[in-house]
Order: sequence, then C-alpha cells, then structure tokens
Amino acid sequence: RMIMKTSKTIGVLVPDITNPFFGELIRGIEQVLYQASYITMLCNADLDETKEQGYLAELSHRGVDGFIIASSAVSNQAINDILRTKQHPFIVLDQKKAEGFSDAVLTDDFEGGRLAATHLKQLGHQHVAVLMPAQASVNVQQRLAGFKTVYADADIDRIDVPLSKLGGRQAVPAILKTAATGLFAINDEIAFGLYLGLAEAGKQVPRDYSVIGYDNVEMCEYVTPQLTTIAQPIFELGQVTAEILLARIKNPDQPWDERRLPVKLIERKSTAHLN
Ligand code: RIB
Repeated sequence: RMIMKTSKTIGVLVPDITNPFFGELIRGIEQVLYQASYITMLCNADLDETKEQGYLAELSHRGVDGFIIASSAVSNQAINDILRTKQHPFIVLDQKKAEGFSDAVLTDDFEGGRLAATHLKQLGHQHVAVLMPAQASVNVQQRLAGFKTVYADADIDRIDVPLSKLGGRQAVPAILKTAATGLFAINDEIAFGLYLGLAEAGKQVPRDYSVIGYDNVEMCEYVTPQLTTIAQPIFELGQVTAEILLARIKNPDQPWDERRLPVKLIERKSTAHLN
C-alpha cells in the first residue's frame, strides 16, 4: 500500500503585501484553502527576483503541495527548473503572465482600460494622463492597450510611476506640466497618492482633475472624494485560483484550466464633467 505524504500546505507568492489588493486576494485564497484543511504559506517577494526564486526553491524543498504565483519576478525558467521538473502543481495569476501551458486565472484588463477611458471621454476630457510603471507586468500593459482603443496616443501623457501611493504623490509635478484634465491611475494605490500630491499642489479633485483608479480596494469608499475606479473581483479571484489549484492536486492530468473574470466601472465622486 502506497502512503501519500502531503504537507497540506500551499505556497503563495505575491509581489507586495502592503498593497491591500494582495491582502484581499490572499483572504480569498485562504478562505478556500482553510475549508479544505490546507495551510496558506505566504511569501512576500517585495518585487525582488532573488528573493522570489529563493522562496520557490525553499518551498519545494519543504514539500508544499502546490504553488500560487502572482508575482512576475518568478521567471519561467525557475518555474520549469523547480516546479515542472518536480511535478509540483501550480497556478499563475495577476502579475505573472499566463503562457498557455499552466492553469491560470485572468481578469479582463483590456476591457478595464477601455471602460476607464470611455468614462473619462464621456465626461469631456480631451487630454488625459496614464500613470503606470514604464516596465509594467503584462496585465497592467493590457489596461493601457484597452485605454488606447478610446484615446489616441497624441492625447495621452504617459507618466512613469511605481504601483504605490508614493509613486502617485511624486507624479504630481509632472502632471502639472501637461494639458491633462483626466488622470488614469493604473491602480488605486497610485490614485490615493495622487490625492495627497494634488492637495499639496493646491488642486482639487474633481474640480481641477478627474481621477479614476483600478482595483476597487475597500479604501476607495473611505477617501474624500470617494474614488471612481475599475473593480476587479479581488476576493473571488483568490477563491477561484485556490479552487483550480486544489482541483489540479486531486487530478494532475486534467486539461489546463484558464478562467477570465469580468471587471466593471464603479462610478463615485472623483470624476466629473469637464467645465
Ligand atoms: O494594486 C496592485 C495591482 O497590481 C493590481 O491592479 C493588480 O492587478 C496587480 O497587478
């Protein structure tokens, strides 16, 4: 009789636990794993490639039953060398690009970008700025691609910022030099930073600038003005990811599962018609 040894542990790699997006995502993951009597082992990679790959090797060594990877710094080579070779079940999502040869959960980033642009355009904003990292992960790049189906390149100022509050705050001097009246922050954290930066510059939202974020973290409702944003189903994203991984562990030979979850515009108070 074969005895199956399992640790009933799943390793989860995220790029930044200070971002509430990942807090909410992990809650969704953990809820499903907990119900199935698995322990969630969280690794905060801090966008550091060496750290991420070290975690991958170490988790493998400790015999976790599966991996959830939301961080782009985990290279495909590391995945091949460590996960595929040892036949560890894994699933990728969010900042880690789905390559078509693993389980994956996506959200409709392209549509999210298109919705944000359509909203600003309908409010009369002719010139807009997009705040995002120059070296963005593929999911974030898709938001820009969708945005560009509505606005021509000539009407968009790209401002290079990290996905953080500080990034948004520090972008304000650059924004003031542009003709933009509508600001698309590629995540809510950047938008919250913009609020502070704009206030420091004596500017008001939405009187002087309309701001739209992305994610719909809980904080959107608690800032003034409440933040208009594109909602990802963050908790559900975590749940679905964990469910697919558990199904893979049970059934290693089933065909790859790739899901795409919808996004939607949540109109609040930070966007207004151009006067
Ligand atoms: O806020 C974190 C951002 O990075 C989110 O938009 C999420 O999708 C991730 O890629």
